[in-house]
Amino acid sequence: MNNGEQKDRSLYMRVLENMEEAVIAIDDAELIVLFNPAAQICTGYSERQALKRPLGDLFSSSSELLRLVRAALQSGRSITSHEDILLHRPLAEPLPVGLSASPLFTRNGEQEGAVVILRDHSQIRELEETVRQADRLAMLGTLAAGLAHEIKNPLGGIKGAAQLLNLELPPENPLREYTRVMTREVNRVNDLIEELLDLTRPRPTQLSEVNLSRILADQVLLQKQSHPDKQINYQMQLDPSIPPIKGDETLLSRLFLNLLKNAAEAFETDGIITITSRIAGQYLFNKPGERPVPMVTVEIQDNGPGIPPDELDRIFTPFFTTKTKGCGLGLAICQKIISEHQGSLRVSTQLKQGTTFTVSLPLKRG
Ligand SMILES: Nc1ncnc2c1ncn2[C@@H]1O[C@H](COP(=O)(O)OP(=O)(O)OP(=O)(O)O)[C@@H](O)[C@H]1O
Ligand SMILES: [Mg+2]
Repeated sequence: MNNGEQKDRSLYMRVLENMEEAVIAIDDAELIVLFNPAAQICTGYSERQALKRPLGDLFSSSSELLRLVRAALQSGRSITSHEDILLHRPLAEPLPVGLSASPLFTRNGEQEGAVVILRDHSQIRELEETVRQADRLAMLGTLAAGLAHEIKNPLGGIKGAAQLLNLELPPENPLREYTRVMTREVNRVNDLIEELLDLTRPRPTQLSEVNLSRILADQVLLQKQSHPDKQINYQMQLDPSIPPIKGDETLLSRLFLNLLKNAAEAFETDGIITITSRIAGQYLFNKPGERPVPMVTVEIQDNGPGIPPDELDRIFTPFFTTKTKGCGLGLAICQKIISEHQGSLRVSTQLKQGTTFTVSLPLKRG
């Protein structure tokens, strides 16, 4: 190899090492011959674990990936997936990726394998989901305002009539019990409407310096008293070095209350709820174009029944509930509170293993 070729080669290597896309090359026996640093981050395998292994071994659970690569090898043409494919990884959740696979040729034009390029689409998908959720809330806002207007007036009429009836009845009359029930139930519907309006009304947040550990400890204390019939073990793993964050204390208390309540309600008789807080090791972007800020994350993890995949898409939708006594507003309210704090809420769940809700809040607000 002459000097010029060597220079070229080291430039190629640097390009491959610095690319954000994962690049994996295989020979014609499907053995991995190149695995760049982005491929290691994206797949969770080190270069040592990957080199010389058959592609089908390393990605045995990602059948779509194997299908597309083999199609490229057989047809001798480049193939790009138009939809995300799921990359299954050893120790992490599946990652949505875009894939293109192209055959590799020697200088003599003989096919010698293929090169696969993977792009991590997880952040784009997360942002899309945030936008969808915001749209849903905006739509609900219009609906709620109209509904509240139509319902509140007749409710006021019913309540007034019940109170008048109560005044007309002699104190010892047993029918008074009915007027009491009517007033109570009207108040309940009223509260529900107020809650719905609250969810959709833009409300100025009352920002102050809040101590997250204290809020979490208070809410756990409250929850402990709310489920005397269950054996719930609360484990707190709070990072004492987290400084006060800028937030609305009432709203943040409500956020954690809703999440802890859901976890406790998920148990039939007993269970463990682990509450962890930490400063996120990495800087996260909130929205496109915004400066990255350090985040603090709080995880509320339970070892309950988990959420079935067909319900997972709907849990944040207002009024979606699987409980006889729930109204299905808890998580929609959580999401509103978090978006008012420029944070994010993620959920991961596994049937019969449990559910983890992860709240990320900006540590400093620019
Ligand atoms: N930790 C959890 N484990 C299992 N399922 C959960 C968990 N958290 C939420 N869910 C599911 O998500 C649904 C929606 O939750 P959400 O808090 O919005 O409403 P809810 O708890 O049913 O009623 P509300 O909070 O208004 O009293 C729940 O009915 C439940 O099916
Ligand atoms: Mg709830």
